[in-house]
Amino acid sequence: MRKAERFYILFGKHGQVGRRLLERVQSEIGAQVLAFDREEYDLAGSSSELRSRLNQIDGQIEKFRNTHEIVALFTAAYTHVDGCELRPEFCRHVNVTNTIEVLNHADRNWGAKIVFFSSDYVFDGRSGPYLETDVQRPLSVYGRAKKEVEDWIETHCADRLILRTTGVFDYDRSSKNFVMQVLERLERGQAVHVVRDQYATPVWAKELSDATIDLVRAGAVGVYNVAGGGPVINRVELARAVAQAFGYPTQNIVGISTASLRQPAARPKQGGLLSHKTKQLIGWSPRSAAEALRILARK
Ligand SMILES: NC(=O)c1ccc[n+]([C@@H]2O[C@H](COP(=O)([O-])OP(=O)(O)OC[C@H]3O[C@@H](n4cnc5c(N)ncnc54)[C@H](OP(=O)(O)O)[C@@H]3O)[C@@H](O)[C@H]2O)c1
Repeated sequence: MRKAERFYILFGKHGQVGRRLLERVQSEIGAQVLAFDREEYDLAGSSSELRSRLNQIDGQIEKFRNTHEIVALFTAAYTHVDGCELRPEFCRHVNVTNTIEVLNHADRNWGAKIVFFSSDYVFDGRSGPYLETDVQRPLSVYGRAKKEVEDWIETHCADRLILRTTGVFDYDRSSKNFVMQVLERLERGQAVHVVRDQYATPVWAKELSDATIDLVRAGAVGVYNVAGGGPVINRVELARAVAQAFGYPTQNIVGISTASLRQPAARPKQGGLLSHKTKQLIGWSPRSAAEALRILARK
């Protein structure tokens, strides 16, 4: 029988998504929350140290297992895509080996529902936006790491939710997300060079977090896309939407090609995700990036 109340264990509480998830679960009546970041659980450290730290909280969770659904929300990751390409062993250690260490512990020792955040970078970007069922063919070390963890979860965890997302943004001065980088340059009156040939369906971190918890509450199991509403847009269109929302002229925004950037990691060009399955289950109706940005600009 499903339990009415939930005990959330959140990894990555200071990240863009983690912060919004924390706000959301802390407002849920009857919910228990344990939230961590790298100071408590460093995925870059040794796996044995990580295991012994995880063992230390078994007792705290055990007390609630009869009354609460235990939910492990795993947002933590080394998200620097080019950094992953340049340091593949480090990326694998953080994003695969130690990520699986935590997810395995949460599944086996806590009986937790596993909620893992994946990406449209599991696709090659030849034919996006993608459905959950499309064939994966990651182009980068980061994308391959996401796919490897997805595959592990599918094989080992019965109660699992793999959320694929793309182009997550929020208004957060401490974040280096695309929107904040564009905004900083616009504020300084600097030229903003952005690629015109990478397409995605950007999503506001708050709406992504709300959909995550609504999917958990609805008992969703398997892979779900959680992307923004509105059309698939390229980075020039997104940068223009930032300028328009925050009242800056758009003429400083210059479109360039991906090839000219010579980034270490290849990016999916025709990326983005279709969230029909998520919308159908929870009646979700995410805003377009332009609408979400206008809300953020008013705050
Ligand atoms: N942002 C996007 O556009 C996007 C798109 C697709 C998928 N995703 C996935 O969605 C999830 C959330 O993304 P996000 O935008 O919230 O990422 P983010 O802002 O970069 O946050 C990542 C989180 O992981 C933590 N972390 C990094 N290295 C760690 C380590 N060695 N040990 C423990 N924690 C560590 C960070 O801690 P610190 O604060 O201490 O650095 C931070 O809390 C990630 O799994 C990401 O791969 C994101």
